[in-house]
Amino acid sequence: MIDVRVPGDKSLTHRALILASLAEGESRLTGLLTGEDPQATRNALRTLGVPIGVLPEDGTELRVSGVGLQGLREPTQLIDCCNSGTTARLLLGVLSSQRLVAALTGDESLRRRPMRRVTEPLSRMGAQFRELGVRGCLPIEVRGSVLRPLEHVSTVSSAQVKGALLLAGLTGGVDVSVVEPVLSRDHTERLLRAMGVGIHSEHTDQGWQVRLSEPPSALPPLDFAVPADFSSAAFFLVLGLLLGGDASVRLVEVGLNPTRTGLLSVLSRMGATVEVDRESDDRCGEPVGTLIPHSGRLQGTEVTAAELPALIDEVPALVALAARAEGVTRITGASELRVKESDRIAALATNLRALGVSVEELPDGLEVEGTDRPLQGEVRSFDDHRIAMAFGVLASLPGNRVRIDDRAVADVSFPGFWRLLDGITSKHGNAGGRGSARSAGQPASGLNRKRGPIITIDGPAGSGKSTTARVVAQRLGFRHLDSGALYRALTCALLEAGIPPDRWPALDRADLDRFAIRLEPRAGNFAVLLGQSVLDAELRTSEVTEHVSQLSGLPAVRSWLLERQRAAGASGQLVAEGRDMGTVVFPDADLKVFLTASLEERARRRLEDRAVPRSGPAGLRDEMQRIEARDDRDRNRPLSPLRAPPGALVIDTTGLKFEEQVESIVRHVLDLTGC
Ligand code: DC
Repeated sequence: MIDVRVPGDKSLTHRALILASLAEGESRLTGLLTGEDPQATRNALRTLGVPIGVLPEDGTELRVSGVGLQGLREPTQLIDCCNSGTTARLLLGVLSSQRLVAALTGDESLRRRPMRRVTEPLSRMGAQFRELGVRGCLPIEVRGSVLRPLEHVSTVSSAQVKGALLLAGLTGGVDVSVVEPVLSRDHTERLLRAMGVGIHSEHTDQGWQVRLSEPPSALPPLDFAVPADFSSAAFFLVLGLLLGGDASVRLVEVGLNPTRTGLLSVLSRMGATVEVDRESDDRCGEPVGTLIPHSGRLQGTEVTAAELPALIDEVPALVALAARAEGVTRITGASELRVKESDRIAALATNLRALGVSVEELPDGLEVEGTDRPLQGEVRSFDDHRIAMAFGVLASLPGNRVRIDDRAVADVSFPGFWRLLDGITSKHGNAGGRGSARSAGQPASGLNRKRGPIITIDGPAGSGKSTTARVVAQRLGFRHLDSGALYRALTCALLEAGIPPDRWPALDRADLDRFAIRLEPRAGNFAVLLGQSVLDAELRTSEVTEHVSQLSGLPAVRSWLLERQRAAGASGQLVAEGRDMGTVVFPDADLKVFLTASLEERARRRLEDRAVPRSGPAGLRDEMQRIEARDDRDRNRPLSPLRAPPGALVIDTTGLKFEEQVESIVRHVLDLTGC
């Protein structure tokens, strides 16, 4: 049996970061989740003037010096909440009462999600919002105001709405009462109570009422060990129930807040056995314990509206289980799922159908008929971490052959998910499971023992991949392979030989063999040689830069350079940087890093690199347009388009110092190599 401590709770990580920022004095937080969503909260808080360091990947302590309930600073840039609805909604509440103007935005999917459920009651408190794009959606500008007390009856049970209103009351110093049909997750209340704030919760005729009364003028610092996330543990609960044989995993230190563990009662109705061993001490009011799933026969069941708030995030995992249970599982009253990271009802139905599972999509739910036939086919993540992970569990089961288009999205809430999944299924002796994953073109992650480690680094223009790759290689004592230099060298050679670019598409292998281009290992990198000459400054001329992308789009050229690149990685100890390093050249790399940063940040860095830091807003806008155009071209090119390779560690470097970003990669590699 394997002890698994899944990453820290996402909801609690967001709230701990926000409350520690609003406290006075130094808070101590451990076990924080480092996924993309909490990074968005962390970056937003930094933009608002809170000096928060890097979220430690290994769950060790982060100290946060709070700025006080009214101490946030007016941001100089748009706050990008990326894909995180919690970040956006909770911050709308916090910012409502601050003496500043700020604008929040998010990625394409977040910009489609409804915000009025938060801004409408906040407006009644006196907060001022301006919708800058589509009605009711981000981007939204918030102008802090003096707030009035609020009595709100919500038609949806939503922890984000409730949390936003309580945080507005807290920072604005006014009483707030929120009534919701069914008690939604109550993390905000529990943490506030642990910090000494007067919060009362009771069941009334109208539903659950939560009251914040006489909020304090200052919050004490928070000392909090964030429990492991029940929603992440849910995928391994389902895996443990489906794997067969003896219990395969023990999920330790899992948060067992009763507003989150509705899945456990549904599982028990389905005939599943899950041992629950509660720890005697709570953490800031949050119960914690160990879960051990035992495999056995599972029956379909009915899940209705009243149960959903306590298992809303677990529906994808539950549906994966339902696909393997006997009979029909019917979930209704779940229309909220249509406005999650994806339309989860449609996404689950589409994917199940693609695997040959009988499923009916209902307006507010799903009806799934379980099957024990092997599941085969291609599914999509729909840019939704929980969809990718739910189907990842099915893909890892013996006999199934399931291919998932984008696995990297799991990083949003669960960095390291695929490695853990593979580790458990392989330890379980599940050859079928691993085989199916590999046959799907998704190599098992983990350290390749036959050679030294290979790390790949890619990212869009201006993400800082070149410098990062070079410094990471230096820190690890590995060699750095700048694959772009090979494309540049060939461009240089062709131009020197007088072969015009319009003849390049006709070049074949024999033509290319005439150019003696090779890589020669040096202490810290590979020199690119043309004949006997080392090429360096020649590679960066404007003529080469102008023509190289044309050359790199040619299939014959790419396959010709492939052998040279692979040879450079023969003995490992390599940091390979460039477009297809993690996908085509080294698909079995031990760690694939994909760097991102907001468009504005990348444009600013580019301008700084070119020593034009004071080019003004117009210069910045121009550069942003240039980068966006290049991103579009790179993403849409037919050969090796720009995207995070499956299983990549995606690091959003916005607001990160260069050393912090290097450190986080180095730490991952050292973890991997057990150093
Ligand atoms: O990173 P760079 O600017 O030196 O790359 C030069 C060109 O080669 C650029 O158009 C991207 C392309 N390239 C590629 O297609 N595949 C790689 N592995 C590396 C670079």
